[in-house]
Amino acid sequence: MRISVFGTGYLGATHAAGMAELGHEVIGVDIDPAKIERLQRGEVPFFEPGLPELLRKHVDSGRLRFTTDAAEAAEFADVHFIGVGTPQKKGENAADMRFVDAVIDTLAPLLTRPAVILGKSTVPVGTAARLAARVRELAPVGEQAELGWNPEFLREGFAVEDTLRPDRLVLGIDKAHPGRVEEVAREVYADAISRDTPFLTTDLATAELVKVSANAFLATKISFINAVAEVCEVTGADVADLADAIGHDVRIGRKFLGAGLGFGGGCLPKDIRAFMARAGELGVDQALTFLREVDNVNMRRRDHVVDLAAREVGGSLKGARIAVLGAAFKPNSDDVRDSPALDIAGRLHLAGSDVRVFDPEAMKNAEQVWPTLNFAESALTACLDVDLVIVATEWSEFRELDPMALKGRVTCPVVIDGRNCLPTEQWTDAGWRYIGLGRHAS
Ligand code: UDX
Repeated sequence: MRISVFGTGYLGATHAAGMAELGHEVIGVDIDPAKIERLQRGEVPFFEPGLPELLRKHVDSGRLRFTTDAAEAAEFADVHFIGVGTPQKKGENAADMRFVDAVIDTLAPLLTRPAVILGKSTVPVGTAARLAARVRELAPVGEQAELGWNPEFLREGFAVEDTLRPDRLVLGIDKAHPGRVEEVAREVYADAISRDTPFLTTDLATAELVKVSANAFLATKISFINAVAEVCEVTGADVADLADAIGHDVRIGRKFLGAGLGFGGGCLPKDIRAFMARAGELGVDQALTFLREVDNVNMRRRDHVVDLAAREVGGSLKGARIAVLGAAFKPNSDDVRDSPALDIAGRLHLAGSDVRVFDPEAMKNAEQVWPTLNFAESALTACLDVDLVIVATEWSEFRELDPMALKGRVTCPVVIDGRNCLPTEQWTDAGWRYIGLGRHAS
């Protein structure tokens, strides 16, 4: 099929390359000429394992190309995906819809032959119905320009795998104008469907809500275990053992019960806020009041680590030398959007500490957000002569550090394991004071 993907960020670029891998002919569209130039050269402008290889393969084969020209995409493709961002509005909880709206306002007037638009971006419920009507109104082909909503569930770090082998496909259809949307989506995803991937069709509102509910549930699960971690901290209980024990119940499951610094990134934090804001607009804000507490528990984890750091360096952070290992919001990503790791590094720095940050992939992005932080060349250099080490992102490189060797480099062998990811015994055996979150210090 001939496909266009509007937006070439973490979602759009991966989706474009994934569609090419499935055998489609794909054109990626973005308003940023520098990004398009790099992608067209076969370079991925961010870190995502496996994506550079996939992108180069299909740029070289000619099955995938990039442009800033929406008219070229409208001319070329029969199916248009929307994969632009819906960030949090400045100073508000609601999602900023201007990028999605701009795609529709640009693309729809260019549709002179039948086309299907499939929205992937995470949007407030009600958006798709509004956009479907706008497309019909603006497109020269009128009703033959159709819109469906096809939420995306990919995780950064596993984006290629999640795109090529999704665990489910969800498609929202405008029930009043069903048209060809389902037939076209089934053709696009024929490969996954042939492998018995669940393919769920529903109405537009449900499809939009599936996505925000999934992220709200994941955020709630993480904050649940972090709230329990707070109780563990004052009772001497161990939240990791507790999570293992409750996780054996298949109704609960062990995934997303990792207590620690909490969730960050470009999705979970802003999605729960936008969900609350939308519920408020719809007059059902009470239904989602609990998400405010999910957000509060999450943000308290960061305060807690800063407090622990102050305690461990003798009460005052001023002048304390602290290594923060990790800046990305999670491992296998260079994304620092709402990163708990970078947030605590910044807070410690503002409190007067001499903070040295190291991350295997996110240094450039971190430096853009916090140019005044000290960035070290390696984990070992970051830790030289420090009073405290904080592991803030669970990169395998940090999990595999040799605590014995590292002890010789620091002034005080104290580690806060902000992700409960280190082999505790190895660190304590090597003579470290080990502080996990929701676990007793040893
Ligand atoms: C998330 C959803 O998982 C994905 O389905 C959706 O499409 C986009 O949002 P992503 O933002 O890539 O994906 O990250 P995810 O793996 O969900 O992690 C989110 C945050 O939660 C990270 O900061 C991670 O460190 C944290 N987390 C995750 C925990 O603190 N504990 C856990 O047990 C799991």
